[in-house]
Amino acid sequence: MKTIVILISGRGSNMQAIVEANLPVRIAAVISNQPDAEGLRYAQAKGIPAMAVDHRPHTSRASFDTELMRAIDHYAPDLVVLAGFMRILTDDFVHHYTGRLINIHPSLLPAFPGLATHQRALEAGVKIHGCTVHFVTPAIDHGPIVVQAAVPVKSDDTRETLAARVLEQEHHIYPQAIRWFAQDRLTLSAGRVNVHGAETLKPALCFPGESL
Ligand code: GRF
Repeated sequence: MKTIVILISGRGSNMQAIVEANLPVRIAAVISNQPDAEGLRYAQAKGIPAMAVDHRPHTSRASFDTELMRAIDHYAPDLVVLAGFMRILTDDFVHHYTGRLINIHPSLLPAFPGLATHQRALEAGVKIHGCTVHFVTPAIDHGPIVVQAAVPVKSDDTRETLAARVLEQEHHIYPQAIRWFAQDRLTLSAGRVNVHGAETLKPALCFPGESL
């Protein structure tokens, strides 16, 4: 069975979805850079080793990332899962985990990398928005895409209603991506991910539609 370590910074709802999906993986630890992260309490309550590696005493990203790598590598994970981990990682960190570091981003990448994705989607007037699970490369929010989920953007949406609709899908696709990894169904080649045996097509999502 493969081992994963999950990194969080806050409420940890994606981490909870991963825990509750009962995946065929060993969740060795949940690590937060914020000692008071709500998600740490949840992990502890579930009996998962949960700890903080506080970034604040560090004067450089490199020194924080070195301590974080040490904490992660103690568990020898096959996969490191960024689940709302709000730190920019150094190239050294990313290279250390090449092919075994994944992230979830709340937009349909390559649209809206970075922060405030829901607000920017509303301002751009897109009709379809969503979320992306991708392997992490040094260019932020640009790594090979594993899976995406699309949701409609309604005319009366606020940042909050849109975020909630996207988050619901995040909670489906992140456990799914990790299940595929655990089943050795992901292959990375030439910057693209192939998901073996998972090409069931759904009808296209078109929005808006028209009711007759
Ligand atoms: C999610 O929207 C995720 O896509 C983004 O940060 C948020 C984290 O939420 N990277 P949670 O901590 O998993 O609830």
